[in-house]
Amino acid sequence: MANFKFDIRSIFTQPVVKISSNMLPHTFRGDRRMSLDISSKVSEIIDHLGELSAVAQKLTKPVTSAQKLRSSENQTVYLMADVNEYDSNVVIGLLKIGTKNLYLFDSIGQTRKVDKVPCILDFYIHDSRQRTGIGKKLFDIMLSEESWIPVKCAVDRPSEKLLNFLKKYYGLENIIPQANKFVLYKGFFDEDGAANRD
Ligand code: ACO
Repeated sequence: MANFKFDIRSIFTQPVVKISSNMLPHTFRGDRRMSLDISSKVSEIIDHLGELSAVAQKLTKPVTSAQKLRSSENQTVYLMADVNEYDSNVVIGLLKIGTKNLYLFDSIGQTRKVDKVPCILDFYIHDSRQRTGIGKKLFDIMLSEESWIPVKCAVDRPSEKLLNFLKKYYGLENIIPQANKFVLYKGFFDEDGAANRD
């Protein structure tokens, strides 16, 4: 379990918080001294969960770190904690998203430059809690907050687990082959037809 030496309840005033480049939860209200304290704790949490995610995906280095997030204006990390557990410091999930300008192949293999593509960049639920529906909860909160729909998202190097997840919950199955590391699904481009039914 992702435990920390400090009390995470100062950060998790609700089970899911959004963090952007200022390293503060979107719910944060406080003075400069408090903001320094909270941002340093948030950095620790993000670094730790980012490392766990990299281990789970067998990556040589984390996709998510506090340092990377600080220098990315258009990325957001959603963190989820189990705030119901009495007297414990348990963070159980991380989902990093952002927008990117990408060159993509459409369904007939033509190159398109698409600006501000909604991207799923990193996703991790603690090993001890996987396959209990927490990932779905976190993903749905993100979709609602961002007003995104799954078929319009590009997924950065998805693992088998994430491919299964997207198929199971959002019916995403038919991949449009790309030359880059992103996975796109049929329906991403408006003329794919499926997209118009959303
Ligand atoms: N094997 C196959 N499918 C899996 C597995 C697994 N070990 N774990 C989750 N899934 C998929 C399945 O579709 C599963 O449904 P099923 O149990 O009926 O087969 C479904 O996800 C379960 O849904 P949730 O419980 O809501 O998902 P979970 O809380 O486990 O979160 C996640 C999904 C984030 C992929 C999690 O399993 C995880 O952290 N895995 C390790 C790290 C990882 O692979 N992250 C994605 C990297 S790629 C990227 O981030 C862009």
